[in-house]
Amino acid sequence: MSIAAPPPLPGAALVLGIETSCDETAAAVVAGDRRILSNVVLSQDEAHRPYGGVVPEIAARAHVEVLDRLIAQALAEAGVGFGDLGAVAATAGPGLVGGVMVGLMTGKAIAAARHLPFIGVNHLEGHALTARLTDGIPFPYLLLLVSGGHCQLLVVEGVGRFRRLGTTIDDAVGEAFDKTAKLLDLGFPGGPAVERAALAGNPKRFDLPRPMLGRPGSDFSFSGLKTAVRQVVGGLGWPLAAQDAADVAASFQAAVADVLADRAGRALKEAARLLAPMPLVVAGGVAANRTLRARLEEVAARHGVAFLAPPLKLCTDNAAMIAWAGCEHLALGHTDPLDLGPRARWPLDPTARAGAKA
Ligand code: KG4
Ligand code: ZN
Repeated sequence: MSIAAPPPLPGAALVLGIETSCDETAAAVVAGDRRILSNVVLSQDEAHRPYGGVVPEIAARAHVEVLDRLIAQALAEAGVGFGDLGAVAATAGPGLVGGVMVGLMTGKAIAAARHLPFIGVNHLEGHALTARLTDGIPFPYLLLLVSGGHCQLLVVEGVGRFRRLGTTIDDAVGEAFDKTAKLLDLGFPGGPAVERAALAGNPKRFDLPRPMLGRPGSDFSFSGLKTAVRQVVGGLGWPLAAQDAADVAASFQAAVADVLADRAGRALKEAARLLAPMPLVVAGGVAANRTLRARLEEVAARHGVAFLAPPLKLCTDNAAMIAWAGCEHLALGHTDPLDLGPRARWPLDPTARAGAKA
């Protein structure tokens, strides 16, 4: 049986956002006029560190243990109670389905108990719309979404309206960072560790492949680069000398930067041909990387368009982006029924290949 959610409230409603799709438990309160009243994120890094990656069952259990307290904290920091909310938004996918269910059920329960509208948010749309929360930029813009599970170039034409220009044909770029960190024994999570190690490294020491560079279109591939890193590391003495690890990290990061710059440049050209020249926006956890940001900024400048990267803490997983996506949908009168289910896969673009990483 479907339980109908009440209609949305007009104006700058306060939306409670909940995010539990991977290894961050997060809750936030955001207003429809772009004010972030609170944004609480609890990382599970410690719980997953012994395994060198996210363990789905551990993640789901950890979300259950802390989510109620985190929501209470987000409301307290915002200085509001459930009665002040205009809606509840929770990530409904894509992601680790056990974790998604925890946040989704909690969000729906609050909405049901408080007779509030509910919005089930696509996690990727949360990343995609963050630049509108932070900078209020108008549609359309070209989004480079780079995270642990995703690597895509999308034209964001409106809320819920995306046109995909490129995607990875194998691994996501964040995954390549995480695998490289593992090979270099740099610890978990891998992206920030590789970036840190690269600071002391020589990016020219190892001539690593740049998959897809110069190819038509805007697709990505990282598996060949990952294999090349494994071969290079295999040829060095073990345990690795700190300088060797730093040089591999820097060479890897330089290869990724070249690929992202090339692909984003081509997509900017294609987006201009399809619609009009448009800003380049970067989102997702990998967008926290300063070297990559700098390269993308250059690409945008070369194409004569603005470059936008949300502040670091809004690039990695958080609930402010989920609350904001909720605000955007609410403003358009989009809400979801309370029997909405979780989705492990949920591509933003309906033309996405079946079986491709969401
Ligand atoms: O968006 P996100 O927080 O979670 C999802 O995958 O949805 O992205 C996490 C990914 C991980 O692969 C992590 O290693 C990567 O983003 N990452 C970075 C950096 N910070 C996080 N990669 C490169 N450089 C960083 N500074
Ligand atoms: Zn994410």
